[in-house]
Formats: sequence, C-alpha cells, structure tokens
Amino acid sequence: MFGKILLAVDGSEHGYHAARQAGELARTVKPAELRIVVSYGTIPLYLGEPNLQTAIDHRTKEAQATLERAKEQVGDLPCEVHTEMSEGDPAEAILNVANTRASDIIVMGSRGLGRLSGLLLGSVSQKVVAHAPCPVLIVR
Ligand SMILES: Nc1ncnc2c1ncn2[C@@H]1O[C@H](COP(=O)(O)OP(=O)(O)O)[C@@H](O)[C@H]1O
Ligand SMILES: [Mg+2]
Repeated sequence: MFGKILLAVDGSEHGYHAARQAGELARTVKPAELRIVVSYGTIPLYLGEPNLQTAIDHRTKEAQATLERAKEQVGDLPCEVHTEMSEGDPAEAILNVANTRASDIIVMGSRGLGRLSGLLLGSVSQKVVAHAPCPVLIVR
C-alpha cells in the first residue's frame, strides 16, 4: 500500500519526530523505499559573488546535516533510503518530489522552525496537505 514513503524534514524537532514515526511506519509496512527531502529555501541572487557561493555552501552544509540527523532518527530500515535536497519554496519542493517519484504517502511534522506558535499547522504543512497527490501523515 505504501511502497514509497516520502519524509520531509526541516531541522526542527517536529521534523525529527516525524522522522521517528516514518521509521516506525516503514518497519511495519516494509516499503520499497523511504526518501528524505529537505529544502533549503531560496537564496537571493542579488547577494552576488562571493557572498552567493558562501550562502549556498552554508545552506548545503546545514541541509546535509539535517538529512544525516533525520537518517539517524529513522533508524534501521528493511528498505532503500534515499536523501534529496532542493532549493526553492519548501512546499513546492516536497510536492514536486511526491509527484516525480510517485510517492504513496508523505510524512511530515505539524509545525517546523517557524515562530508563529499560535498556528495549529505550519504553512508548509498546510500547503502540502492542500495539494498533495497522495495521503499525508501529519505528525504532532
Ligand atoms: N524546508 C523544508 N524542507 C523540508 N520539509 C520542510 C521544510 N519546512 C517545513 N517542512 C516540513 O513541514 C513541517 C511543518 O513545518 P512548517 O509548515 O514550516 O511549520 P512552521 O510554520 O512552524 O515552520 C516540518 O515539520 C517538516 O516536516
Ligand atoms: Mg517552517
């Protein structure tokens, strides 16, 4: 049923909590693959060189660390684990991966790094739930 699981992480504790749940889910349903995605947002081109390259290096390094930690939180799995980082709007990046990889379920946190603590559901989660091509598991 859930042959391809997509996990979205942003470096927040909510995201790592979603990672642990995605790991549990994968150990139960034994999918073919789990794909972990992180988007490092949009880097403004007006920064110019060499600042642009410095910003890209910094964000890539941070995204790589987030993916590594998410892998740890997922734990040992009986399937392939892929990681992907992308630039641009996070919700669009997640939806894009879900569409191109034909994901069967998206697992993500209810909240992330944002500071608007009054919101029940973060903006990225809201947008993904509204446009996803598959079921979405919102972990809280
Ligand atoms: N840049 C991102 N890359 C991948 N996943 C993300 C990103 N930002 C948010 N998410 C996913 O969406 C969840 C909810 O985050 P978000 O909607 O951004 O809430 P908040 O508004 O509190 O930051 C996160 O726990 C994570 O699973
Ligand atoms: Mg956010």
